[in-house]
Amino acid sequence: MADTIARRKLLQAMLALPVAAITPPIVTAGEYSHYGFGLSWPQFVNQMEFLANERAADRVSEIQVAWRGLHWLQLLDVQDPLFEQAVRDATESGNAFWLWQRLIKDDILNGGILNIDSDKLVQLHDHPGATGLLRILEGKAEVWQYDIDQPATAEHEDGKVVLKRVAHRVLLPGDTAVLTPDEGNIHALRSVSKNCRMLDFFIPPYERKKRTWYEPVDAGWRHQESIICIPVSDRQFTAV
Ligand SMILES: [Fe+2]
Repeated sequence: MADTIARRKLLQAMLALPVAAITPPIVTAGEYSHYGFGLSWPQFVNQMEFLANERAADRVSEIQVAWRGLHWLQLLDVQDPLFEQAVRDATESGNAFWLWQRLIKDDILNGGILNIDSDKLVQLHDHPGATGLLRILEGKAEVWQYDIDQPATAEHEDGKVVLKRVAHRVLLPGDTAVLTPDEGNIHALRSVSKNCRMLDFFIPPYERKKRTWYEPVDAGWRHQESIICIPVSDRQFTAV
């Protein structure tokens, strides 16, 4: 229980942090990009792969992954020509709601750029087992994050779940957000600008088929701290 409270406090602290408040802990001068302040794309990938490997070997905690991963994400120099080349070479997929440009995917790390058009909503869903790291590149995004309320009330034993909101923010370019397997993992995103682009990385990659989508019962859910939802499996959701 104490662990859970500590994780929640750290998550809340990270959510409230302005970009400049994250102190660079271990980057040396030689690790900065030749193209400007920050890490080049290869340097960033090396740091993220190292971190993902440390997590896979259980040498760092999920919270350490969130903390360090956000740090590397903020340091990535998106003006680096090698990053721009990686974006041009990205594998693209998507649907009517978003475009995913996959930059990297292996057994321990998945990352890319999520593009959402004006006023499109990425419905409530989770990334089971993953720590997710996000940095806005362009535009504004409204982000909601939830935990499943425990214990479920008897009133909702018909398969519905109660979600408790843990964060609700509008993110601007440079802003970051984080989710861990235990905190704020259920989330929805909406672009509140003409278009919105964000870096999105996951350690480890989540299994898409294990993802759950959540359909709120009440249309006014966006303004509520506690919402009732119908869980929908990824297979059922994507088949619609
Ligand atoms: Fe997501």
